[in-house]
Order: sequence, then structure tokens, then C-alpha cells
Amino acid sequence: MLLARKMHLHYGPIALASILILGGGLWQYSLGTKGSPATGSSLAGLVVGSIAAGIILFELLLWPRKRLRKYKLGRTKFWVAYHLWLGLACGPLAFIHSGFRFGGTFTTVLMALLVLVLTSGVFGWVMQVFIPRWMLGNLPQETIPSQIDDVSLLSALENRQMLTVALGPKPPNTGKLVALEDQLSALKSGLSVPSMGNADAMPGLDKSNAIVVGARQRRDPQRASFGQDLADDLNGADRIEIWKQYTLVIEPFLLKNIVPNSTRSTSRSPIGNLQRTQEWFKNLQASCSDSAFPILMALQSTVEERLQFDAQRMAHAWLHRWIAFHAGISVMLGVLLIVHIIQSLRYM
Ligand code: HEM
Repeated sequence: MLLARKMHLHYGPIALASILILGGGLWQYSLGTKGSPATGSSLAGLVVGSIAAGIILFELLLWPRKRLRKYKLGRTKFWVAYHLWLGLACGPLAFIHSGFRFGGTFTTVLMALLVLVLTSGVFGWVMQVFIPRWMLGNLPQETIPSQIDDVSLLSALENRQMLTVALGPKPPNTGKLVALEDQLSALKSGLSVPSMGNADAMPGLDKSNAIVVGARQRRDPQRASFGQDLADDLNGADRIEIWKQYTLVIEPFLLKNIVPNSTRSTSRSPIGNLQRTQEWFKNLQASCSDSAFPILMALQSTVEERLQFDAQRMAHAWLHRWIAFHAGISVMLGVLLIVHIIQSLRYM
């Protein structure tokens, strides 16, 4: 995506990087003796080394540049294109500068750190291209990351409402639903929401706390359509089994990390991944009558939605952690580079 659609942005930096590598390499080689290239202190070595150091400084500037977006400092896509290709050129340029040798311990560590920065850069670049694409194709329920908990909470509330309408009030001996008042007030303080009509019958939710969020309504219109017809078809054993499984397994999974004490770790939950979820719902379906099928499908879709949110969260975490790692070791590289320059100036 970065390369294919906006290739023209990359021609300039690719040409510049190639000229620097070819020109610097040939120059350094031409100053050598008996077929071996000159050292880092030759004129070519010093010029190429200074260019590499200048590029590293430019690469580091991407960080403050991001925070100074309000000042017109050139378009981000140009900065990033030069960042990628000149950054990549730094590896060969550093090697040319050193006369194709690793030198002592300090310069070897410096070189290794540079290789690590470049490798992490390429890794992150590839991730930035593929993760959004993968999310687009595999996570159709993707939502705004900061609202994942809110959407999951609303999902649990909608499920309670749906089960109450379709199965009747929650029977005794089917576990205890957690109270959601605190989470609801927190949610209400962040959203402007009208009240929900059918709140009377909802366990764990009093009328004053009832909410509906417009954005949520589009997600699963199927859930709103269950009514008395379905309730008439379901037998008592279905009602008990569905309420029980909802209370003990499904809702704790939907509310994990949202409601204290409701958390059930993903690895221990029988619905902690897509394969287990499909298997688990198949078994639940087998233990209920055919009339329960639509309601179980609706519940399964909320669990699968939650699994997609988890995957989305993980993808975002990877993108953020990677950039922190890349930026962190880049700063270390910058510091060691300054030490290297000071040491070399003393030596000269
Ligand atoms: C000496 C070499 C390099 C240094 C010192 C360096 C340093 C940095 C810094 C400081 C950032 C900003 C981090 C932030 O926004 O918090 C950054 C971002 C980035 N770097 Fe590098 N980098 C280098 C080489 C590379 C290479 C070779 C690549 C890939 C080919 C690369 C890919 C990226 C990408 C994709 C970003 C994120 C750009 C964005 O989306 O804004 N970097 N780098």
C-alpha cells in the first residue's frame, strides 16, 4: 500500500540513497591500497561517515516533527518516504565509512545497534502496511479502540434485554449477573444517551440507568427482533440452560477487563478464541431445542464481535509497542554515535 499506491513519493529518496551508496562506495574503494578499501579516517571515510551521521540526525527528527505538526514543516508522507530510504541507506553508508570492517568492540556494538534499528524499522514498516489491511479483511466489527469497553458493555446490556424478552426473567439457580451500575454511570457521563424503553425487565439494570447508543444500534438489528413468538416455542430447560450459560460463561467473557471480578482470562474461557467459541456454541445448540437456534446465533455473534475487538486491541498494541521500541533504540544509537564522534575527534 505504502509502496504500490504512492510509489512516486519514493523515487526521489531511492535515487538519493542509491547515489550516496554508489558514490561513497566507489570513492572509498578508490582511495584504498592493494585492492582493499581505505579506513574510516580517509577523506572518503570521513565524508561518508558524516553523511551517515547527518542522516541519523534527520531520522531522529521524525520524532519531534510529529509533535510539531501545527508548524508547516513539510508533508508527513515526504518525511516518511525519505525516512525509510535514507534510513536504509545508513547501513551500507556506515559500512563504507568503516572501510567495510567492524573495528573494535565499541564500533561493533554501534554497528549492531544500527542493524537493529534498521531491522526494527523494516519490521514496523511491513506491519504498518499489512496490519491495517488484515484488519480491514478480517475484523469487520472493528470499532474506535478507545470505545471497545463501552461497546462491549452495551453488548452485554443488549443481551440481557434480549434474553429477558425472549426467555423471560432470569430463573433462580442460574448464577448471578454482576451489577453494572458503576460502569453505566461512567459510560453515561461520556455519552449523551436517551433512555431505553424496555428497562423494567432487565436484570442488573434499573430504569434510570437504561441507555441506548445510536452507533450501537446498527451492529445487531437481529437481537431487537426477538419477541413473544420465540418465547412461546422455547421450553423451560432451554430457558434455564441459556440463562445459565449466559451468566456463567458468555457475559464474563464480554465484560472481561471491564467489570472487576467478572474477568475470566481468555486462555481459561471455553470461548477464548474463534475455534473454541464455534465448538462451544455447537455443543450448547445440541443440548437445547431447535427453537433456541436464533437466540444462540445472536449470542455467538456478540462473542465473535468481542473476539474481533480483542484482535483489534492486540494489533494496535503491536503497532504502538513497535514504534516505542524503534524510537527507543534509535535514541540510544544517537547517543552512542555522539560518543563515537567525540572519540574519533580526539584520536585525530
Ligand atoms: C538510523 C536509522 C533510523 C533511525 C535513527 C530511526 C528513527 C526513528 C524515529 C525517531 C521515529 C519516530 C518515532 C515516533 O514517531 O515516535 C521513526 C519512525 C519510523 N521509522 Fe525509523 N529510524 C531509522 C530507520 C528506519 C528504517 C530503515 C525504516 C524502514 C525501512 C524505518 C521505518 C520507520 C517507520 C515506518 C516509522 C513510523 C513513521 C510514521 O508512521 O510516522 N526507520 N524512526
